[in-house]
Amino acid sequence: MNTSFLVANWKMNYTDQQTVASLHQIVGKSTLFPKTRLIICPSFTALASAHKLLSNTLIALGAQNLNHNTKGPYTGEINSAMVAEFCSYVVVGHSERRLLFGETSDDVNLKSIAAMHQSLQPIICLDGQSDATRQSNNRTLNIDELVIQVREAIKNFPLNSQFLIAYEPSWAIGSGEPADPDSVNTIAAKIREIVTSVLGSDTGMSVPILYGGSVTLGNINNYCKLPELNGALVGGASLDPAELVELAVSIQ
Ligand code: 13P
Repeated sequence: MNTSFLVANWKMNYTDQQTVASLHQIVGKSTLFPKTRLIICPSFTALASAHKLLSNTLIALGAQNLNHNTKGPYTGEINSAMVAEFCSYVVVGHSERRLLFGETSDDVNLKSIAAMHQSLQPIICLDGQSDATRQSNNRTLNIDELVIQVREAIKNFPLNSQFLIAYEPSWAIGSGEPADPDSVNTIAAKIREIVTSVLGSDTGMSVPILYGGSVTLGNINNYCKLPELNGALVGGASLDPAELVELAVSIQ
């Protein structure tokens, strides 16, 4: 797989106006990174404007979450059809959502299936930890917990499902302490093996696997050049438009 994916998770940072201003700067430089698949995930309120601005570009748009229900009395929630009006991708299972909003592996699985029903590709975030381990801030990876988390995320997926996986240890997010690249490569290989065992080798071999957690311009290629990795999911370092362009240029 040749494409390098760069997912910019802007979290709860930019208003609609700020998003538009940043996107203008990035679109103006997009000819500098023709081989990077850049996916920008702004807040829900900026998706309509961002969609208009990105519609004739190679930059893709993603949302940061969705509700798996199709419609009904879920005040404040946004379903997959609403997201699909504007986006091609959606982040699910981010560890901030697991940690701060109590999302379970079942939620992540249902959200992913709901997304794929609308032809949205879920970017499934996994930290390889059980809820208890995550809450105790334990950094040791327990392979059994990783296996359970991956299997729960992708259960009942149809064959040939199109999705991405981002391995993001919760302790590495925003901490300035990224995970060791060699262990990320081993974990990505393990994730691929589990996906293959559940969904077959076509999906297992083709699913893009990204790393996230304190990725910067200084370290992004320590991850993107790993044999098992296909890109990065970036928070803080993606907020500055000039830096995001540099990240996109550096990994192609
Ligand atoms: P940082 O890049 O700020 O560590 O955030 C990573 C992340 O959570 C991306 O989803």
